[in-house]
Amino acid sequence: MRKVFPECKNVTLDEVYADLRFEATAGRPYTAINMVSSVDGRTTVGGRLESPRLGSERDRQLMGWVRHAVDVVVRGAQTVRANPVYPLIPDELVPVRLRKGLGEQPRVAIVTNSCDLPLDSPVFTAGPSRPIVLTSRVAPPDRVSKVASRADVLFAGEDAVDPSRAVQMLRSEFGIERILLEGGPTLNYYFLRQRVVDEFFWTVAPKLIGGAGELSLVEGQDVFDPFVQLKLISAYTCADELFLRYKVL
Ligand SMILES: NC(=O)c1ccc[n+]([C@@H]2O[C@H](COP(=O)([O-])OP(=O)(O)OC[C@H]3O[C@@H](n4cnc5c(N)ncnc54)[C@H](OP(=O)(O)O)[C@@H]3O)[C@@H](O)[C@H]2O)c1
Repeated sequence: MRKVFPECKNVTLDEVYADLRFEATAGRPYTAINMVSSVDGRTTVGGRLESPRLGSERDRQLMGWVRHAVDVVVRGAQTVRANPVYPLIPDELVPVRLRKGLGEQPRVAIVTNSCDLPLDSPVFTAGPSRPIVLTSRVAPPDRVSKVASRADVLFAGEDAVDPSRAVQMLRSEFGIERILLEGGPTLNYYFLRQRVVDEFFWTVAPKLIGGAGELSLVEGQDVFDPFVQLKLISAYTCADELFLRYKVL
């Protein structure tokens, strides 16, 4: 791999994000997003419920490295319904987490209003810890009680999950200080709209997808006003793929 910003040098994959340390500074847990898109900004292929992998094997390895530094991986319900797996880090990164004072594996949290979740799928049945479900008071009570048999449920809003309240509840209920959002684009929108995001990791896969219905990195109704401003922290490249890390200002 090659680092191209801020300086140019060759690096090995395990040097890229090995020193990640997310320290809370904003009076709430530190929150990062990690996404992969094509060069034309598509993050899905074939519609909302199917997302063949856009990134390379190297991107998946770097996803593990970003995950290794957090207490919880948060996903939107649609992403979970599309691919209901537990976001594990690979075994070789467990000692790195332990040296940083983190648990062996991150927890997973799912954001949903409907509580329509695949309760018999691996994310609920085969993970190292109980998922956390972040929902709101409009969730249907019968579904909430089913979800509560498989997950720790937190009510973090009245009509929808309020991102500020959600991250504070993750801190107060579970001691969570470092959060990674792994999409999808709708979840990203709600957190960015409230400026509850500190960093944005973006892999640009050297592909063009087309397809007017495919989702971009952030999908929500209103234009951000003011726009969310980003400052480049680092850029790496390998085999025409770009691995960008931005600070959200
Ligand atoms: N390329 C990438 O890096 C990447 C990463 C992740 C996902 N994806 C793809 O993105 C697609 C899904 O994206 P998406 O934007 O449609 O969905 P999403 O963001 O994964 O999930 C949206 C759902 O999450 C819940 N939700 C989000 N914000 C909420 C809030 N503030 N309050 C209450 N509930 C909230 C709602 O669940 P309910 O409907 O249950 O109420 C909503 O319908 C999938 O195809 C997936 O494969 C791509």
